[in-house]
Amino acid sequence: MNTIGILGAGAMGGGIAQVAAAAGHNVIVCDQLSYAANKCAKNIQASLKHLVDKGKMTDADAYALNSRIKFTDHMSDFEPCAMVVEAIVEDIEAKQIAFKSVEAMIATDAILASNTSSLSISAMGAHLQHPERIIGVHFFNPATLMRLVEIIPALQTNQVTIDRAKAFVDSWGKTTVIAKDTPGFIVNRVARPYYGEALRIMEEGIADIETIDWAMHELGGFKMGPFELMDFIGNDINYTVTATVFESFYFDPRYKPSFTQKRLKDAHYWGRKSGRGFYDYREGAPARKTPNKDQKLGEYILNRILVMLINEAAEACYLRIASRDDIELAMTQGVNYPKGLLYWADTIGIEKVVGMLDMLYVEYLEDRYRCCPLLRKMAREKKTFF
Ligand SMILES: NC(=O)c1ccc[n+]([C@@H]2O[C@H](COP(=O)([O-])OP(=O)(O)OC[C@H]3O[C@@H](n4cnc5c(N)ncnc54)[C@H](O)[C@@H]3O)[C@@H](O)[C@H]2O)c1
Repeated sequence: MNTIGILGAGAMGGGIAQVAAAAGHNVIVCDQLSYAANKCAKNIQASLKHLVDKGKMTDADAYALNSRIKFTDHMSDFEPCAMVVEAIVEDIEAKQIAFKSVEAMIATDAILASNTSSLSISAMGAHLQHPERIIGVHFFNPATLMRLVEIIPALQTNQVTIDRAKAFVDSWGKTTVIAKDTPGFIVNRVARPYYGEALRIMEEGIADIETIDWAMHELGGFKMGPFELMDFIGNDINYTVTATVFESFYFDPRYKPSFTQKRLKDAHYWGRKSGRGFYDYREGAPARKTPNKDQKLGEYILNRILVMLINEAAEACYLRIASRDDIELAMTQGVNYPKGLLYWADTIGIEKVVGMLDMLYVEYLEDRYRCCPLLRKMAREKKTFF
């Protein structure tokens, strides 16, 4: 079986290493810091122990899996690898430098994959000798549990690389979708209004965070309300992703970040991990406020956020960022949405979705609420996505 290399022994690198080793590969994990490698090894062992304790894995299998993962601080150990997945710091220059060094160590047909959440894969290939083997393989956190992986070919990537990278990740029990090399790929782009529109509704004083979370969870069927989810992801990370997508789209108002969240980031109110975010997680914190369960208000909140999400999914489809089916898979498996957004649009009625978006546009006269031309055309022609 092929050997897989992982560059970066952080949260993602460790998870991806475990996934590849679980599929039977020998895995070489390289980190520049030995304490990062030690911590990663401990995390993997703890995760395996947990699986054994829960009866999901035998002791022998856990031992065998663990012994397939080797740690190093020398990139030259990547020499036998058929694919190296980079999961280092989210910085384009660091990634370009790292890929150049890795390329010098591996066979000319070995794949160079990046787990970046937001950077351009094409830019990572720009300085390579063989840029046709660069590709994005975007796992979600935690990589061991989340099924979805976005596969992102760069401008330079050849079909052999796409097919081989996809085959590797598919064989690891993941669901792969193909996305264009554009900011946020599928999930981190289409999901933006879940946070952005919720923040806007709160900032305008239409409802408080408890009520918005109640509406999206109870009425919409989303696993977590937007504020609970932002606190879970971390307001530092969530804000930075929004800001990056906003800048990358040349300041399109649809992705405009929120000052409220920026202030939380500034104050280190990052959410669960720092003890405080939109909610207070510290011991002895006051009980949460009771949401206002007014049905009409709840439906307004749900519909407003939902049509903005649908608009984003339709736009991704319209601009050929990914296929209709891959957009649906990405949102249901990558972020566990209760239904595919395009299917949801069909069930609401495309004409109604367009009507709701137009009402928002008329009210605010902001480009943020412009309706995707595909939805407008479909409404006119009385078409559905499915
Ligand atoms: N954390 C997430 O939720 C998440 C989800 C999807 C994708 N990503 C992406 O995955 C990548 C890694 O994220 P993370 O959260 O695991 O980061 P992390 O900070 O937990 O780990 C990064 C590791 O890379 C090491 N490193 C940095 N530069 C290096 C180099 N030049 N050579 C070798 N090792 C180096 C660091 O020592 C560290 O151990 C980023 O590109 C991030 O955007 C993160």
